[in-house]
Amino acid sequence: MEIEVFTLFPEAFEWFGSQRHVRNALADGHRVEYVNYRDHTPLTGGQVDDTPFGGGAGMVLRVDVVEAAMRARYGADPTAVRDRRRILALTPGGRVLDDALVNELAAEPALTLLCGRYEGFDERILEHFASDRLSIGRYVLAGGELAAMVVCDAVLRKQPGALGHEESALEESFSEALGGAPEYPHYTRPAEYRGWPVPEVLLSGHHANIRQWRLEQARLRDQRFTPGSLP
Ligand code: 6GU
Repeated sequence: MEIEVFTLFPEAFEWFGSQRHVRNALADGHRVEYVNYRDHTPLTGGQVDDTPFGGGAGMVLRVDVVEAAMRARYGADPTAVRDRRRILALTPGGRVLDDALVNELAAEPALTLLCGRYEGFDERILEHFASDRLSIGRYVLAGGELAAMVVCDAVLRKQPGALGHEESALEESFSEALGGAPEYPHYTRPAEYRGWPVPEVLLSGHHANIRQWRLEQARLRDQRFTPGSLP
């Protein structure tokens, strides 16, 4: 798949791009590219944002700047681009990302992520250029960059081959294979540490029992069935 991230801070993604599963995905032919709004601003002095009409704190990303950047990238009116690929605006008020939405996005051939900064986007960007508004949770970050990395990470690790072990993404937390429950607990050596033993069944070599125990544990951890049980 092809992901394009529009941002004022492409350098913020350097660490993200250096991770193994991301490098694997890129080596497999997936692409992540960055467009800096500032490189395409029609305004003098590299201006990209402005003060909000009506007053208030902070700065708002300008609609003309986003249009210029999208036109430069796609060679088309941005109001038409969303008909051919998902244009996700990262904004705290958007639809909250979960495993089902990640699967949906991971199946797209191409995604565009629009990062806002400061107080966010001029509303006309969301109304006319974006196909979706996406949030990574009900709290406010200073910009969309961290959220964009979260989306890229979650979507790329679902691509076949990205993880090394093909099965690891299938039976993970919140997946359908676990009925949407969090994952079961994992243990490794030492088998006993400070008097804290590893559950006997995991050392038994009995695969059917291990499987049953893991499904039970995943279910027990599921807040949907035992509300308030987790801190
Ligand atoms: Cl997508 N952006 C910002 N600025 N804050 C957020 C968010 C996005 N999701 C949760 N908080």
